[in-house]
Amino acid sequence: MSIFLEPAPLTGPAILSTGWPVLAHTPVALSAALPARPAGGRAVVMTMGALHAGHASLMREARKSSEQVVVTVFVNPLQFGPGEDLDRYPRTLPADMEVCAAEGVDAVFAPSAEVMYPDGPPCVRVDPGPLGDLLEGESRPGHFVGVLTVVLKLLMITRADRAYFGEKDFQQLALIRQMVRDLQLPVEIIGVPTVREGDGLARSSRNRYLDPAQRTVAPTLAAALAAGVAAGTDGTPAVLAAVRGVLESQPLITLDRLDLVDPITLRPATSGPARLLIAARLGTTRLIDNIAVALPAPVLDEEV
Ligand code: PAF
Repeated sequence: MSIFLEPAPLTGPAILSTGWPVLAHTPVALSAALPARPAGGRAVVMTMGALHAGHASLMREARKSSEQVVVTVFVNPLQFGPGEDLDRYPRTLPADMEVCAAEGVDAVFAPSAEVMYPDGPPCVRVDPGPLGDLLEGESRPGHFVGVLTVVLKLLMITRADRAYFGEKDFQQLALIRQMVRDLQLPVEIIGVPTVREGDGLARSSRNRYLDPAQRTVAPTLAAALAAGVAAGTDGTPAVLAAVRGVLESQPLITLDRLDLVDPITLRPATSGPARLLIAARLGTTRLIDNIAVALPAPVLDEEV
């Protein structure tokens, strides 16, 4: 069965709510609600809903730079692989609207899959190139094709001047920047630091899948990253060993990926500024997190 067989798109009034923020379910409704780009610019925060403090911080950053803020809420089927959590991904639009209202968002664009992909899965998609096959792309083939395709569509629909994305999805952010450079899209991409719970767990819509025992050990991911940072001056093998050492103390956590990469090329890093990325499973839930690590400076050839 096609993952695109969702309920028919809403056929009611173009703009379903004219309260604050405006809620639009179609591109036409969004354009009607926000006809002109304001002098102070328009920012977009793209989400899959189930909004939390991390999303709120994106909205706040967006508001600092732009007169108008649009939030998109769309669980994009194109970026989920077979057996992933598309069906159980939380859909909480009324609560999401409240978060957006509290943050002073101007409009929420929440289309159905049929509005976004009227002919089913699109034939024309964005090719992320080699960066898309690395890291998360290796574990989730096709994921970044789905992400970049929907991000491009949402940029066109919202006509935003700026778009804000969280650093938690570090590779996603790198790929979106690359797409904007390569396709010369007229939008500025801004990365925003990860928001964490008091115990260090990175905020994620998927945290709500965790049962109490899993939630208790989940901050171990952040603790493992911190151990990696502390080992930075000892070099790559020490960093990776430090992370594994912390994770091995937790039988409820299964490490899926551990990578220490150059923050731009996403290729393995051995010196200088690097990014430590982790993906791990707690039961059926897959969580990701990452942090900046300073590796020893590169050894320069001695002058003769
Ligand atoms: O980061 C996300 O929530 C999604 O990947 C995004 C950017 C909204 C595209 O569906």
